[in-house]
Amino acid sequence: MERKEDPKCSCAEVVDDSSKDEFQELLQTLEHRMNWDGQGLVKYKGFWLLQLLFRPSLSAHNNFRAKATDVILSTMPKSGTTWLKALTFSIANRNVFPIDQTPLLTSTPHMLVPFLEFDVYWEQENPNLENIPCPRIFATHMPFEILPDSIHESDCRIIYICRNPLDQFVSHRLFFLENKIEKEADPLDIDEAFNMFCQGIHPCGPFWDHMLGYWNAHLENPRKVLFIKYEDLKEDITSQVKKIAEFMGFPFSQEEEEQGLIDQISGLCSFESLSNLAVNKTGNLKGIVENSTFFRKGQVGDWTNYLTPAMVERIKKLMDSKFGNSGLTFKI
Ligand code: A3P
Repeated sequence: MERKEDPKCSCAEVVDDSSKDEFQELLQTLEHRMNWDGQGLVKYKGFWLLQLLFRPSLSAHNNFRAKATDVILSTMPKSGTTWLKALTFSIANRNVFPIDQTPLLTSTPHMLVPFLEFDVYWEQENPNLENIPCPRIFATHMPFEILPDSIHESDCRIIYICRNPLDQFVSHRLFFLENKIEKEADPLDIDEAFNMFCQGIHPCGPFWDHMLGYWNAHLENPRKVLFIKYEDLKEDITSQVKKIAEFMGFPFSQEEEEQGLIDQISGLCSFESLSNLAVNKTGNLKGIVENSTFFRKGQVGDWTNYLTPAMVERIKKLMDSKFGNSGLTFKI
């Protein structure tokens, strides 16, 4: 579908400039820690990244050439990535596939919208992405500061979805207890995992720096970075879908609104709808994570079932001190 403005869809040349040796050398200079579930973390430019994703993240950083029409979905893990993928795919392709024939019925949102680090650059250092039809939609968990330069420099757009840290922590913990990546590791208990979270030692952490990177970029250039919250999507999906579509350059026409297209897309992408599709109930991603584990409860406030009042108090204080007067707040 055409964007409602000059997209300047420029295709830059493909450059391959990193080598395995350089990567190994860099890896040796970095601080390493173990996540509570035994996965390796490396500290890069102030952020703890999963070692599993570090090499593909660097490949993406070195080789990804953004186009002005690209849409980049950025998230901390477990903040609503799957939901945002389904929504943006549906918005961008609504004239290609009628709702009752959408590929979302037979493919998971993760198959339709690939991660830069987990999919696109997972096996290849510099794959050819030129033949993917525009608008290309990619997802990433990379912090704003580590995004490929071409994402910063091109006119592509970034949508960041953020979730209150308490639900994000709980969702993340349960996801990795379910998908045991390090089979031999004995996971630390929730108190220790929470302690690490509050120290910022967790995948993509510190969470406050990840969030503030995108928040400040959004304040600086709201046309470049849309900042949305999981909780706001839950509260009023219709206005959020309209906002996302406008930001992507594919606003809904009055006729589409009157036909109920926004409601149809919201309904299709709802937790109830997606989690009941066979494709999302079975199978796995790369043999590493089960598709079904991307759909757990899909609620706001499930943290009340897992965290003690002392933990909540600690996070609240942390958020107050880290977010300060940035304007970023969560209803807790
Ligand atoms: P819970 O574990 O709290 O249920 P991500 O997609 O970033 O991995 O985040 C996963 C979280 O989003 C999980 O939260 C999951 O249940 C929830 N989720 C997945 N699809 C959703 C949807 N369509 N609507 C609302 N929440 C969804």
